[in-house]
Amino acid sequence: MQIIRTISEIRAVLDEQRAAGNSVGFVPTMGYLHDGHVSLIRASVEANARTVVSVFVNPLQFAEGEDLEDYPRDLDADVAYCRGAGADFVFAPSVEEMYPSPVDTVVSCPGVAAPLEGEHRPSHFAGVATVVAKLFSIVGPCRAYFGAKDWQQVAVVTRMAADLSMPVEVVPCPIVRESDGLAMSSRNVYLTAEERAQAPLLRRALDAGLSAVADGERDPAAVEAAMSEVLAGASLGTVDYAAAVPAHSLVADGSLAGEVRLLVAVKFSKARLIDNDGCVAD
Ligand code: PAF
Repeated sequence: MQIIRTISEIRAVLDEQRAAGNSVGFVPTMGYLHDGHVSLIRASVEANARTVVSVFVNPLQFAEGEDLEDYPRDLDADVAYCRGAGADFVFAPSVEEMYPSPVDTVVSCPGVAAPLEGEHRPSHFAGVATVVAKLFSIVGPCRAYFGAKDWQQVAVVTRMAADLSMPVEVVPCPIVRESDGLAMSSRNVYLTAEERAQAPLLRRALDAGLSAVADGERDPAAVEAAMSEVLAGASLGTVDYAAAVPAHSLVADGSLAGEVRLLVAVKFSKARLIDNDGCVAD
């Protein structure tokens, strides 16, 4: 496995791979990898001749006062995870390599990025879309693997790739959970022991919402109330939202019908947790 630091070198090696007839799978990450990332790398390794993992903590997607400085980093451990999961290349550029001068071009998806996370982190998705567009441009034609924990991020990136005719197939992959139901996330390390004990309530809230829909509830407000009731048990956190929405527009429009997504976000002292699950209301 090769570790590559520059845009010109990763471009050259991936172009060479494609010229030799090898398909490329791409797993973009901000590092501090866990088993959720490993599942993305494995999915890519299975479907593509070569897999590249990027490790880059992207300053553009952190707002003032968020955890950019503190974001956990451990490149040696990340490299070991990538090697173990069968990746061929790790692309780990510096901030100066990615942003040699202040960025003037920003990619935004004002529709799909607006609700939910967009209301709580208004500049976040423009930062994500911009760096992912840049990474897609650097990596070139590929399949790109994203975890469904960040459901709205998947929606933004899928929409961006389609709208801008990028030669990338976005592949969403299932959420990987701890044994008590907590969705894996690099930011889980921020939880105190007491908060960690309450964190599985997000999964339980989603289960309550899924049961309500399975029992025939079609009023989004009633499904949201069922989830909020469970989240009220997370006394150390503040609920940002508990939403039941159409899976692709993410904006409620009357009764629930077709593919539905349930999404929750809870802010603990330092960690802000998000989770989601889906069902069909027919
Ligand atoms: O999901 C993440 O880790 C990041 O948002 C991503 C897609 C790597 C862009 O920085």
